Amino acid sequence: MLIQTAPRIRSSEITPRSVYLNRRRFLSGSLGFGAVLASAPLAEAKFSGLKESPFNTTEPETPYKVVTSYNNYYEFGTSKDQPVKYAGTLQTRPWAVQVEGEVSKPQTLDIDAILKLAPLEERIYRHRCVEGWSIVVPWVGYSLSEILRRVEPTSKAKFVAFQSFYNAKQMPLGRYAGIQLPYVEGLRLDEAMNPLTLLCVGLYGDILPNQNGAPVRIVIPWKYGFKSIKSIVKIKLVDKQPPSTWNIENSHEYGFYSNVNPQVDHPRWSQATERRLGDFFKRPTLMFNGYGDQVASMYTGMDLRKYF
Ligand code: MTE
Repeated sequence: MLIQTAPRIRSSEITPRSVYLNRRRFLSGSLGFGAVLASAPLAEAKFSGLKESPFNTTEPETPYKVVTSYNNYYEFGTSKDQPVKYAGTLQTRPWAVQVEGEVSKPQTLDIDAILKLAPLEERIYRHRCVEGWSIVVPWVGYSLSEILRRVEPTSKAKFVAFQSFYNAKQMPLGRYAGIQLPYVEGLRLDEAMNPLTLLCVGLYGDILPNQNGAPVRIVIPWKYGFKSIKSIVKIKLVDKQPPSTWNIENSHEYGFYSNVNPQVDHPRWSQATERRLGDFFKRPTLMFNGYGDQVASMYTGMDLRKYF
């Protein structure tokens, strides 16, 4: 993965939470529960009546501008400042997600059906990138388990494989990405069913900007950011551990599990600390990114140095 120095943020770029909350209060007054402003142009769509999640961190949110302009999305360039410039070519309508494999009720879900399938929540998560920076993001979505339950996994389903959209015309920089595309990822079924695993359709109360993985992505807050696959078109339940992009590219450096773990260093750098974008000083990285209470039991008895 390309490493870049984290940007410093001017105080003028920070939207105070009070302003953003007021904006949302205004919006929620004008729309019904979980509704999307369907008639508005896509770029102006807002969510309202978002449920608060019990998993929210109270740490300060990273400014919207930083979250949406410092991205990893190799299909739109390998530098952090490229996706915001080039992801405008991604066409997010029509969009469907195939849910298939070891399930009794395979389904092809249209994005508009996905938006209404379960009440949307705001999930304010820490998001730790393997490169050593972190952000706090108010994502919008619901637990992936809502969809997985509906398709009824068979007893053979042990893992979940995800695939991103890839289209060379819409993503001309993809051919220079230096990684195999489409981007693929995977989780063990219990990880995918964990309530923290978020099927994400928005951030900061708005629909997902293209550079953040529109129209639908996964967010897994206790794992390094590269597990959080963007712009998903396929979810397949399978019996064997599926391939994952960075593990295919360099299995020595990127394991399948990729749980945030300050005790297991990347072969080329320490994972003990991280820089929250906008901060000057580094802070200690927390085991499972601070989500141990919810997830540690899934790894009981596993050697996390071996299964990194
Ligand atoms: N998904 C796709 N399809 N392509 C990518 O290049 N990058 C991953 C992940 N999902 C990536 C992807 C990496 S390395 C990170 S850190 C996160 O997306 C970044 O998410 P963000 O840009 O919303 O912060």
